[in-house]
Amino acid sequence: MNKQELWDNFGRTFRDFDLESGIYKAPGRVNLIGEHTDYNDGFVMPMAIEKEITMLAQLRPDRKVKFYSLDYDQMVEYNLDSLEYDEENIWANYIMGVIDEIQKLGSSLQGFNLMFTGNIPQGSGLSSSAALEVVTAMTVVDLHKIKIDGIEMALLAQRAENNFVGVQCGIMDQYISRLGQKGHALLIDCRTNDYQLVPFKDENYQIVICNSRVERGLVDSKYNERRSECEQAVEFFAEKEASEITALRDLDLETVEKYKDELAENVYKRAHHVVSENARVIESQKALEADELKKFGDLMYASHKSLSEDYEVSCEELDILVSLAAEAGVEGARMTGAGFGGCTVNLVKKDRTEQFIKIIKEKYKKETDIDAEVYISNPAAGARKI
Ligand code: GLA
Repeated sequence: MNKQELWDNFGRTFRDFDLESGIYKAPGRVNLIGEHTDYNDGFVMPMAIEKEITMLAQLRPDRKVKFYSLDYDQMVEYNLDSLEYDEENIWANYIMGVIDEIQKLGSSLQGFNLMFTGNIPQGSGLSSSAALEVVTAMTVVDLHKIKIDGIEMALLAQRAENNFVGVQCGIMDQYISRLGQKGHALLIDCRTNDYQLVPFKDENYQIVICNSRVERGLVDSKYNERRSECEQAVEFFAEKEASEITALRDLDLETVEKYKDELAENVYKRAHHVVSENARVIESQKALEADELKKFGDLMYASHKSLSEDYEVSCEELDILVSLAAEAGVEGARMTGAGFGGCTVNLVKKDRTEQFIKIIKEKYKKETDIDAEVYISNPAAGARKI
């Protein structure tokens, strides 16, 4: 639907109050490398993708908020003074969480109507929920003329997910959805929240995303379990080595190895993954800047191995997708996002992309009886008003 068609639809859905209105977009993301490092104060390197959520909204003269999901064809209504978790319409909680956080800043809001639609596959690790949070934040803040910078907005959207939705995610997804830039990945330092642009210089390569179509069932409980294992590791190292150690970011591999026998096996493996993954992100930045795509690809495969064996967040289907990529001679492949299903990200030579997709579809179907979905995306722009 183009902009006009969307506004027509909005006009049929809601009465016009002749008040401030606007249309906004926020993208999903794929993480190129740096997995499960964000909540360890580490490094990540995601890019925004060419799949996004579009939101239209208009202020109302009262305290009501009405949300219409065009894709679900569902309408919900709440009052700004009594926002509560909605057990039935789960999607509405991402929106309410953001409104709640904006209200916590002390901003006094007025009611509004909003409608949204998107094409980010849900439950597949491409951050459709972060995109919904970020586009809501853009919308509400802009309609009320509240000033808030990009990083603050990403942090606010993250708090919405932590506090209202109840998932203890890190900052990566909301950050890249808000601040992504066309033609670039972002190297984000999740301790300082600074970023550097990492250009995709090489015209010969393409990012290809393969969706295992395995729903990430256990993801929330396992995610929180991994977080607490990392905290255990930090406590251990702070006591043994130096109290300045406040996150796995502060360790090197040598120190991790030194205590291998004293640590519980799972805690050692989690620390080993995070510390080695941080180093791989920095290596990847260098490789991409030097246009050494082959090297970057090797780091992607190494990341997958570490996620699968040390961090234990892969699953059979993701491992199959990565093996098939390796067999097909693809430069790099790894699971992306939280894991336990979802997608792999692949670095593929442009002239071999078609062949690769054909192989993946055929062989994955044969091995798992599932039809994989494949998306090609260039690094896209972050959230914006259109
Ligand atoms: C999810 C979280 C992110 C990050 C990744 C794993 O996408 O929302 O904050 O922790 O998992 O890298």
